[in-house]
Amino acid sequence: MAEAIKPVGVVAGVSGGIGRALAEAMVDSRCFSRVIGLSRQRPADWREDDSRAWAHLDLLDETTIAQAATHIARIGQPTRIIVATGVLSDANLAPEKSMRALNADAMARSFAINAIGPALIAKHLLPLTPRDRPSLFAALSARVGSIGDDRLGGWYGYRASKAALNMMVRNLAIEHRRTRPLGVCVALHPGTVKTRLSAPFENPARSDAALTPDRSAAALLEVIDRLGPDDSGGFFAWDGERIEW
Ligand SMILES: NC(=O)c1ccc[n+]([C@@H]2O[C@H](COP(=O)([O-])OP(=O)(O)OC[C@H]3O[C@@H](n4cnc5c(N)ncnc54)[C@H](OP(=O)(O)O)[C@@H]3O)[C@@H](O)[C@H]2O)c1
Repeated sequence: MAEAIKPVGVVAGVSGGIGRALAEAMVDSRCFSRVIGLSRQRPADWREDDSRAWAHLDLLDETTIAQAATHIARIGQPTRIIVATGVLSDANLAPEKSMRALNADAMARSFAINAIGPALIAKHLLPLTPRDRPSLFAALSARVGSIGDDRLGGWYGYRASKAALNMMVRNLAIEHRRTRPLGVCVALHPGTVKTRLSAPFENPARSDAALTPDRSAAALLEVIDRLGPDDSGGFFAWDGERIEW
């Protein structure tokens, strides 16, 4: 008799605050034969054992995404894929306060990392998910990517790249359900979370309101556990609230 394919969990962005917390919680849940972390560099304290594996992935290089998919397929069949990568600022990128600050290269970088990268992960990993069993693909978006919710303006590149990501997820959900009716594809807002990404923008007066990565990850996993095929194509916050597009 052929050996059953083992369900594995995948977290892209395992070197990040929320990604690492999600991966640890998924390992602790013992729901997966293996949790596979993906990132540009293996986190120094990521120990490889029977419960976890790691593979290189750079969103700006599709070859690495294809190679990661091959690596994952050798280990098992992904039934939960969470994309927890993203960029808000870096040495060449800062959230724009005004249209005067718009810069083509910076915006292209936001789109490449926040919208196109997750879509390429879906391109290579969704075909590995089971056809006849439930599975989930979730991309961490951001509430500021909601067009309907935008009342403050600013942060053009980040907002627009997350809005583009939301459209990618919606489209993926429509295509995915044709071959995998039990599959779920969603965009998730993790809350305001204390990580490397949010640190430069922390409001000291409101720092108590920010979630720890562990708290956000636990809440996101609770939301994920409640989602079914009818929710596919939706945008949900860490507290389960459905967010308008
Ligand atoms: N923190 C918040 O308050 C908040 C709020 C709303 C939404 N989000 C979203 O939540 C997600 C996770 O954010 P976080 O707060 O956990 O940030 P984080 O700690 O800065 O983690 C970001 C992750 O993205 C990865 N990444 C960036 N560029 C990449 C590339 N070219 N290829 C591969 N990986 C790349 C980083 O890898 P390296 O370690 O290699 O840089 C890191 O693993 C993001 O999508 C973010 O937009 C966060």
